[in-house]
Amino acid sequence: MYSSDQVQRLQKLSTSLLSLVSKSTPLDDRLEELRDVLRFNEYRYAILNDPLISDFEYDTLYKALEKIEAARPDMVTPDSPTQRVASGLTKEFPTVQHLVPMLSLENSYNEEDLLDWDRKARELSGLEELEYCIEPKFDGASISLTYENDRLLRGVTRGDGVAGDEITTNIKQIRSVPLSANISRYGLQLVEIRGEVLMNKNSFKKYNEQLAEQNLPPLANPRNAAAGSLRIKDPKEVSRRNLEAFLYHVAYFTTLDGAQVTDGHVEGTDETTADLHINKALKTHSGSLQMLWDLGFRSPQKEKRVVKGIQAVIDYCHEFEKGRDDLPYEIDGMVIKVNDFALQDKMGMTTHHPRWAIAFKFKARQATSTLRRVEFQVGRTGSVTPVAKIDPVPLSGVTVSSISLFNEDVVREKDLKIGDQVLVERAGDVIPYIVKPLAEVRTGKETPIIFPTECPVCSHKLEKPEGEAVWRCVNINCPAQVVERIIHFASKDAMDIRSFGDANVRKFYELGFLKDVPGIYRLPYDKIRELEGFGEKSVGNLQAAIETSRQQPLHRLIFGLGIRYVGETTAKTLAAAVSHLRDFAGFSLEDLQNLEDVGPKVGASVYQFFHNPDNLHLLDELEGLGLNLKSQKSTASAGGNLDGQTFLFTGTLSRLKRSDAEEMVEKNGGKLLSGVSSKLNYLVVGEDAGSKLEKAKKITSIQILTEDEFIKLIS
Ligand code: IVH
Repeated sequence: MYSSDQVQRLQKLSTSLLSLVSKSTPLDDRLEELRDVLRFNEYRYAILNDPLISDFEYDTLYKALEKIEAARPDMVTPDSPTQRVASGLTKEFPTVQHLVPMLSLENSYNEEDLLDWDRKARELSGLEELEYCIEPKFDGASISLTYENDRLLRGVTRGDGVAGDEITTNIKQIRSVPLSANISRYGLQLVEIRGEVLMNKNSFKKYNEQLAEQNLPPLANPRNAAAGSLRIKDPKEVSRRNLEAFLYHVAYFTTLDGAQVTDGHVEGTDETTADLHINKALKTHSGSLQMLWDLGFRSPQKEKRVVKGIQAVIDYCHEFEKGRDDLPYEIDGMVIKVNDFALQDKMGMTTHHPRWAIAFKFKARQATSTLRRVEFQVGRTGSVTPVAKIDPVPLSGVTVSSISLFNEDVVREKDLKIGDQVLVERAGDVIPYIVKPLAEVRTGKETPIIFPTECPVCSHKLEKPEGEAVWRCVNINCPAQVVERIIHFASKDAMDIRSFGDANVRKFYELGFLKDVPGIYRLPYDKIRELEGFGEKSVGNLQAAIETSRQQPLHRLIFGLGIRYVGETTAKTLAAAVSHLRDFAGFSLEDLQNLEDVGPKVGASVYQFFHNPDNLHLLDELEGLGLNLKSQKSTASAGGNLDGQTFLFTGTLSRLKRSDAEEMVEKNGGKLLSGVSSKLNYLVVGEDAGSKLEKAKKITSIQILTEDEFIKLIS
């Protein structure tokens, strides 16, 4: 896509534009250069996964472009990098006809299937040996993109194969989908390209963590996550989901001189694409993948292989399957395509699938088993989770016998019964889940799953708060909750106390060595040494791990406290907002909600936590035991001339870089807040300041500074 000369030039241009922006030099006459640089960096990030500038620098350039376009709306082009962003909600997704139907693929599951298919393919083509192009079978949601006159015209879902939903606005949120592509360079006027939208494993994991923080059921697999995301009516939410796209098939095109070509066949003539000689690129499938790559699409370039004969196909499929778990995204097999377009045309297709391609499906990560019983586990917040106990069954490398059913609604929706045969699936390293019961093979002996009305551990009556799907044990002294709270406190993402896992916590609790979180710091090591399996060395390690944890940064402690709806990200926000954890006792609900990403639900939960005397007592106790309750920011900065003063920046600064200004505050002993509240001393206002300024004006104790006034204050 970019030659090394172009890379050099664009990298230099990025740097020089960045320095101009930092000096507030107007860039109105360099609009196209800004766009080129942004497109180039977007490509480095989304297609090559090898960015050359930081996210911050990208945002700086992006904002510079946004600012110019805001002043000159007449200069905005549809393929400007700013045009991905949409405001408001999508009303509906109109149905559009695909230019060529989106066909499915024939499946194969083993070597014999592939050998059979190759035999038929050779017969049909009349050749002794065929050249194949093999590529991954991406496990996502299929899409069709149309580019006309070098610009993205629309994006459509597969739908029923003949017509799908027009989801262009959502497609634009995918950074690996270019808004423009220089197809005219290939003599093309319009092209319809097929591919797959994916959510990579990492984004999927993060997304499920967010759902869990909000007490929502997790999504089953990245495929469902991708398909569901494409149908969301809020494009901003689609953007947050970090979708990606692979494009692997040129389905239809018209040339600048008017020829129409469908799946390699020229309409109304006997000519084929190969005869047309439009371009070498469009003689073979691998050539078309190369063309897509050169046009800036993420096509399976590195992943594909062109081979002769079916044995080499089989070998590559096996080779790729071995590395399947190391890929950042899910695949469920390989796709084998006859490489020559003229041959593809000769072989044709059925109404369901092309005869020139076949999918080789990897071993299913699905299995069937019998649901024996459902246990109810009490979590640290008292939530009662149904857990299915099934006959142990091997599934992609592990034996599965226990599967969370999440909540009552999930069980009801799936209509599960004890004794059911169930279909179990596990996508990659994703936790297993029950897809469905096999209702057709029921014997009539299956029995309903009965939900308890009392806590299975402490027998306290269970409650189900309005609008929630989870039953809860509200007895905060319930032993199950206490143990889970301690386990969470010590866990890797919280206080990270190594060698203090679930089993030890449970054991010490049962033996009466430990009854609450502060108890971790008062363990009777002499008694532990007497236990079987606890040598001098292992007790020493445990003691050392517990000692070190006292100095963990504040955000880890906050996360470890297990405040409802406070995940790791919120814990960081909270830690940055105070100098000492106890400060939250003085925060109003409004103060809390002014913090970034703290909504009414999270705010109310944090407010309740810090207004409960038992919890404040717990904090005092932990501090008394030597735990760190101070924010790192406050400790690092103590002693400067802004000591303890709080700052917030809003709008675009013209003389200073935002990150530099923030660093200056901290170096001088000041603190940064992330929202406007009565805790704020100074709001520093740059250009185009918005709602934060309006809010600050209403709180008389806040001093509003211009950038110059701020610089004066600092110096
Ligand atoms: S080619 C006319 N190539 O698998 C040929 N499909 O089970 C159309 N898929 O509907 C398909 N990766 O959504 C092709 N490399 C790949 C693919 C792929 C995933 C999907 C596609 C198709 C489904 C068929």
